[in-house]
Amino acid sequence: IKVDEFDYVIFGGAGDLAERKLLPAIYYRDLDGQLRDTSRVIGVSRTARSDEDYRSFAHKALKRHIPAADIEPEAVKRFLARLHYRSVDALGEEGWDDLKTLLDAAEPPARVRAFYLAVGPEIFGAIGAKLAAKGLKNDLSRLVIEKPIGKDLQSARALNATIAEHFAEDQVFRIDHYLGKETVQNLMALRFANTLYEPVWNSSFIDHVQITVAESVGLENRAGYYDTSGALRDMVQNHLLQLLALVALEPPSSFTADAIRDEKLKVLRALAPIHAGNASQKTVRGQYRAGAVDGQAVVGYDQDLGSARSTTETFVALKAEINTWRWAGVPFYLRTGKRMPRRASEIVITFRPIPYSIFDENAGEIAQNRLVVRLQPGEGLKQLLMIKRPGPGGMRLRQVGLDMTFAEAFNIRHPDAYERLLMDVIRGDQALFMRRDEVEAAWDWVDPILAAWRDNEQRPAEYPSGTWGPTSAIALIERDGRNWHEPE
Ligand code: BG6
Repeated sequence: IKVDEFDYVIFGGAGDLAERKLLPAIYYRDLDGQLRDTSRVIGVSRTARSDEDYRSFAHKALKRHIPAADIEPEAVKRFLARLHYRSVDALGEEGWDDLKTLLDAAEPPARVRAFYLAVGPEIFGAIGAKLAAKGLKNDLSRLVIEKPIGKDLQSARALNATIAEHFAEDQVFRIDHYLGKETVQNLMALRFANTLYEPVWNSSFIDHVQITVAESVGLENRAGYYDTSGALRDMVQNHLLQLLALVALEPPSSFTADAIRDEKLKVLRALAPIHAGNASQKTVRGQYRAGAVDGQAVVGYDQDLGSARSTTETFVALKAEINTWRWAGVPFYLRTGKRMPRRASEIVITFRPIPYSIFDENAGEIAQNRLVVRLQPGEGLKQLLMIKRPGPGGMRLRQVGLDMTFAEAFNIRHPDAYERLLMDVIRGDQALFMRRDEVEAAWDWVDPILAAWRDNEQRPAEYPSGTWGPTSAIALIERDGRNWHEPE
């Protein structure tokens, strides 16, 4: 089904995000026939460029970031013809009138105007004010912003307040690209389109939950941003807490944006505080050292950064608890890090042990049931069950997985998260975007952890690149008589 007519105005239109994610995502939607003929994409930044320059930039971006098999000459031609470029000084006066002239010339004129701010958050306010003052907004305007939304509660509130001066909350789309990942959306299907899991989705049947987001990459030329952020702000405050909220939320009354976001908010607000008094038992910080990833030698964080003095964490493990009837006593162990053995993100639900074994010792150990939701790579679901080994050797038990990969179940290309999210902006569907109060609730929980690390001088423990983090992260879960699930 085609989406309504739009003009996507991308501030930072020739930047890294536009090149790697936004332009390829819009191309794929065009390739699938989802865009109306007159919809346009307008790249904006300070540098002077012609429409033709921008088209050749976009053409290179497609060739670099999508498989050659998906480059279809007719589709590329159609896509490039949609592109325009205007040079605008976000903080000054130049270029705004030009941009307005281009927008006002749209035919047909009634269309969604989506302003995508792929620029630093320090100029979000200035751009919002200019869009209003220069009359660039229309009745169907939307604002799309990326993280980081603040670096703590105070700055997040200030940023949200600035945005709210120019855009109503139902026009603001805060991207957490993890929410656009197929398997993440499948969590909702798993829970609410099946009767099997929901009755056991609580502390009577679930022992604990693990969420791992492991990356094999290191700093990736983002030293400036990353070193002032660290893994807690960069990954936990948004992606991991959003995943936690989706696993833990109560059934929403409908599959609509606010019904879902109300329930996520309740979970975030029910997180048990971590503070200076308990942070050393509940959190682990780590920083990678030299090591090997995929058989390749890699240098440590210090060398990547060019400075030996940073105390920024590139790994976090923590034990979160949710103070609700459903989840009391069920820890959520979260971990994320750079330079881990491989890229692997998964949510693992471990069910309680059987209450009593009727089998003798020859049966072997009876492992707890686990449900593994694999976000990437190899998106899929795996339910680990105990079964009898085949053969006449008596009742000998073994854990086996009922395994479903989406690639096998559906023989289609796996769309990138941005494809879904960019079109949801046009549809005006905010279900997969973070609402202002959610972002603030997440910071409200994260801030005291940051303060505790500072006050307790909790420095990151070292871990060799290519390992699952510092040994203290293993101790964090083993102290509770549990163990991390090793991603496959
Ligand atoms: C981003 C973080 O939000 O997510 C990066 O800023 C991280 O540090 C990235 O690498 C991971 O995203 P994905 O989709 O590759 O898992």
